[in-house]
Amino acid sequence: MLAIDALQLREDIATLAQFVEPATPGTTRRAFTDAYRAGRVWLREQMQAAGLTVTQDAGGNLIGRRAGRTTAPTLVIGSHTDTVMGGGRFDGVIGVLGAIAVARALREAGVVLQHPLEVVDFLAEESTPLGSLFGSTAMAQGFSAEFLAREVPGWGVVADALVGMGGDPSQLLQPLRRTGEIAAYLELHIEQGPLLEAAQVPIGAVTGIVGIRRADIVCTGRPDHAGTASMAVRHDALAAVAEIISATEQAALTRPGTVATVGSLHVAPNQTNVVPGQVRFSVEMRSLHWPEVVAMWDEIVATVQTACAKRGVTVQIGTCEDSAPVQFPAWIRQIVAQACGQYTHQVVELPSGAGHDGSMVGVIAPVAMIFVRTKDGRSHCPEEFAAHDDIVAGVNALLQAVVAIDAWCEE
Ligand code: HGY
Ligand code: MN
Ligand code: MN
Repeated sequence: MLAIDALQLREDIATLAQFVEPATPGTTRRAFTDAYRAGRVWLREQMQAAGLTVTQDAGGNLIGRRAGRTTAPTLVIGSHTDTVMGGGRFDGVIGVLGAIAVARALREAGVVLQHPLEVVDFLAEESTPLGSLFGSTAMAQGFSAEFLAREVPGWGVVADALVGMGGDPSQLLQPLRRTGEIAAYLELHIEQGPLLEAAQVPIGAVTGIVGIRRADIVCTGRPDHAGTASMAVRHDALAAVAEIISATEQAALTRPGTVATVGSLHVAPNQTNVVPGQVRFSVEMRSLHWPEVVAMWDEIVATVQTACAKRGVTVQIGTCEDSAPVQFPAWIRQIVAQACGQYTHQVVELPSGAGHDGSMVGVIAPVAMIFVRTKDGRSHCPEEFAAHDDIVAGVNALLQAVVAIDAWCEE
């Protein structure tokens, strides 16, 4: 049976983990940084060494392509290599390096697929102040002119950041790919949750991806002396946000299966003896069912209005950044479950609580994912860990699924 080179993969994961931003916790290689650029130079070399023809598209995606026996729609595999601040070595990375390992194994075995094969490192999957899912959104949806023109303090203009990553914003007002151009997209990813570890299985077949809504909110009160301004005269922006944070938590606690988080928060002037004048923070809600996301959002916005009004605090709510939930088609889930069944005693099927590039590519192509067990279900932290044997099982399952889908999707 076809199999990947497990040793080479272990080495690749260790090498890519060296490309990190200086003086940052865990594995930090955020998109648009020098560390990320350096990692991509190395990645391009690995794709070339695997016999792939490497290009970069207008969305900043790094793409390694191998021709198929026919000019059928492309089979795409990949993920992302950017991380969160203080992230781990595996999130996204095993999807890209695993895809390169699959391309290598096919070449070593002299297997030429019917379909052209592409290995993709999607640009900026993680949430940054500029946005997230950049490469997959460029590929499947495109951006609005106002989004591309948006300027973010400390990060610059979105369009310039894309140019800095080899992108071409002038081509991004419409999607780079259309429905029908991609036969299927497969992504291997760590689960980033506890289900596979609890089920004592190394890998699982993913059924779908949650929908996510993210928004930035700015509450503006008035900075005052913390000693002489009586409670009656204050416009305390942070006190208002404190109410909003617990309302965000409540919105999810009262809806089983949903989650909601205020993950980033900046207080100004952020000084012990000054009443907080302004707070900029993010709200994020997730559910497999979109109406639940909307219901949570409406509840939170109602609290934003009341919490601010009673303190004489003004509020600006930024544009919502949405990615709709994706249910994977049954035919591709079946093939992936069968492939997984060759590497685990029991095939567990599970949804993804994390967002992925697959949610965007799912707009124009059938998508499926394979999850690898994560220790204690933890991710987005230096403790993120996946056992190498589990990763190899996942990548081999990806290899079998690619071959099976190639045969299944007649030209
Ligand atoms: O936020 C997410 O779910 C993903 O890790 N970007
Ligand atoms: Mn992530
Ligand atoms: Mn990820």
